Amino acid sequence: MLAIDLNSSIAQATGHGISREDIASTGGRIAGILADLRAGGRWKGWVDLPLDTEQAEAAARFASGLPREITDAVILGIGGSSLGPLAIHHAARHPFLGPGRRMHFLDNSDPDTVGAILETLDPAATLFVAITKSGSTAETASQLMIAWDRAERGLGARARDHFVFVTDPERGDLRRLARSLDVPSFPVPTEVGGRFSVLSAVGLVPAAIAGVDPLALLEGARRVRRACLESDILENPAALLAAVAWLLDTRHDRHVHVVLTYSDRLAPVGAWFRQIWAESLGKRRASGPPAGPTPVDARGATDQHSLLQLLVQGPPDKLVIFLDVRSRRAVTVPRIFEDLPSFGYLGGQRLADLIASQRRATEMSLALAGTPSMSLTVDDASPGSLGALFYLLEVSTAVAGSLYEVNPYDQPGVEEGKELACGLLGRKGFEARRTEVERFDAARRPDLVIRI
Ligand code: PA5
Repeated sequence: MLAIDLNSSIAQATGHGISREDIASTGGRIAGILADLRAGGRWKGWVDLPLDTEQAEAAARFASGLPREITDAVILGIGGSSLGPLAIHHAARHPFLGPGRRMHFLDNSDPDTVGAILETLDPAATLFVAITKSGSTAETASQLMIAWDRAERGLGARARDHFVFVTDPERGDLRRLARSLDVPSFPVPTEVGGRFSVLSAVGLVPAAIAGVDPLALLEGARRVRRACLESDILENPAALLAAVAWLLDTRHDRHVHVVLTYSDRLAPVGAWFRQIWAESLGKRRASGPPAGPTPVDARGATDQHSLLQLLVQGPPDKLVIFLDVRSRRAVTVPRIFEDLPSFGYLGGQRLADLIASQRRATEMSLALAGTPSMSLTVDDASPGSLGALFYLLEVSTAVAGSLYEVNPYDQPGVEEGKELACGLLGRKGFEARRTEVERFDAARRPDLVIRI
């Protein structure tokens, strides 16, 4: 149901890339990393999420108890609290027809999105799902405040029936608000961090609301869990992906990791992967130079017409990770315009074969140019396949974190920006940071701003 193909990253096959011996040489280290993961502990709560169906069952019960009048749901959240739900919704649902409720993702603090979405919705027919592990993220807090105010103005005391919160079980201001407003809520386990939370209530609750079976997501993850935690690297697809990516980055200067998804339904999984790979791996190390490949997400065949030129002939610093799907909708090109050479050969072809041929041709042209690649292929874009994919990529990230010798679960580099923004916005306790920004701004040279 999930295959990893390393042919185009192994030197024997392509004349470029790494050797089987290189991979085998990481085996001892990786066995230790996996034993550590299996043992669980601080921030490793995500490892066992697929085994616990309680939250998925609770999410399904909650969704089935929603009144029929609720036709729309708005996800209030950002980062790990939004990208996973978005990827699930996009993969498992027909883009226009459903089934289930219409889902909207604010995913930012841009008023052009937040205002436009909220203005078009009737609060009486809408459920607002606020998701934040910390309970303190400014984007999510402001989205929630705007949504709450609109709902209260439209519905009065009934507004609270149109909200559900997903947050830390004990800590944070959203948990406080859930208690004081008596809003239904779901916990994100304490030992599960934002970008590793897609298989917790963070992904399961929006999935159930959208009509996607949350138990199937966990089932898919469970199916690959044993293989992904297997100590023998040659039997473990998640560890192989991590080891190949790390070897190519650190020994062959393949610093840019391009996830090229040949499936529109799975394309947001690429954005989810970009976040977990970047935020988990890109950071200072206790000793030695900073670590971290630069992930890029792109979509085939579309980006063959934008990025491929660079991938084939640009600087030799790329590794391409294909994300592909076996089964697709049946759409066949009709046999018309047969006497035109550019059109005629396409008549009678299935679009699924066209995109598959484009993917194969891209892999080969990359190989001929010496750009290594590997492929992850799932049977379909079902919730089960997604659960498997999320779990595999989470394990890969955790393993890669240890190989790079960084803590994959923290993000010290984003805290500073958050504090400076709090200072600018006048949050109590952040006055000194505001002064720093003002000094920074005062040092700007007007002659370096060119206006036309
Ligand atoms: O991976 C992370 O921890 C972050 O990307 C968070 O998901 C993001 O900052 C949102 O945080 P929170 O869920 O606390 O609102």
